[in-house]
Amino acid sequence: MRQAEKIRLVVLISGRGSNLQAILDQAASGELPVEIAAVISNRPGVLGLDRARRGGVLAVELDHTQFADRPSFEAALIDAIDRHQPNLVILAGFMRVLTAHFTAHYRGRLLNIHPSLLPKFRGLHTHERAIAEGETEHGASIHFVTAELDGGPVIVQARVAIHPGDDPDRLAARVLAQEHRLYPQAIRWFAEGRLRLDGERVLFDGQPLDAPLRMENLSPRN
Ligand code: GAR
Repeated sequence: MRQAEKIRLVVLISGRGSNLQAILDQAASGELPVEIAAVISNRPGVLGLDRARRGGVLAVELDHTQFADRPSFEAALIDAIDRHQPNLVILAGFMRVLTAHFTAHYRGRLLNIHPSLLPKFRGLHTHERAIAEGETEHGASIHFVTAELDGGPVIVQARVAIHPGDDPDRLAARVLAQEHRLYPQAIRWFAEGRLRLDGERVLFDGQPLDAPLRMENLSPRN
């Protein structure tokens, strides 16, 4: 791995936080050059907040139901994030739709993980829909967040086969195992300065990607 300065990271969650846990583990072991400044959940009392506290990370509850509307919630969220001056903000199972104002504020330093091979299956219930549509493969994507929901430029994907007779829970579990490899990888690249958003394109090592990187094709040195 290349030497990299630690970047300051803020993680937004809404629930279980298993992706957060993968990142906490790699940050603690030194594999990931990040300092996790805060974990913020729009839902109080969720497991991901406990995971943050157990990892010695500031856990912040910002209950969106306590705000009159989306803009006032987002103003408070921006305030809660920006007090930590993060280099990178990531959505890790954060289940609120974000306005164009929010996504513009963090443009180029906001990543999301989505459980499908984007642009397929934006939105919810991706595993059920992939099975129902007779897909033979499925997976997860990391993308830069732009104003379009699940529509920003994709950086890297991991694929899993859909087996005959698969059910959504089993498929979701296999995809999730890949997610836990995918997010740390993308964050490491960002921390190493290898990843940039240039207009609507992703630059990787300074070169535009004409297709998302594929996790299964990466050499261990990546
Ligand atoms: C993950 O599968 C993530 O890809 C998905 O929520 C789950 C969160 O799990 N995100 C979305 O659907 C975003 N549209 P986790 O809380 O255990 O990391």
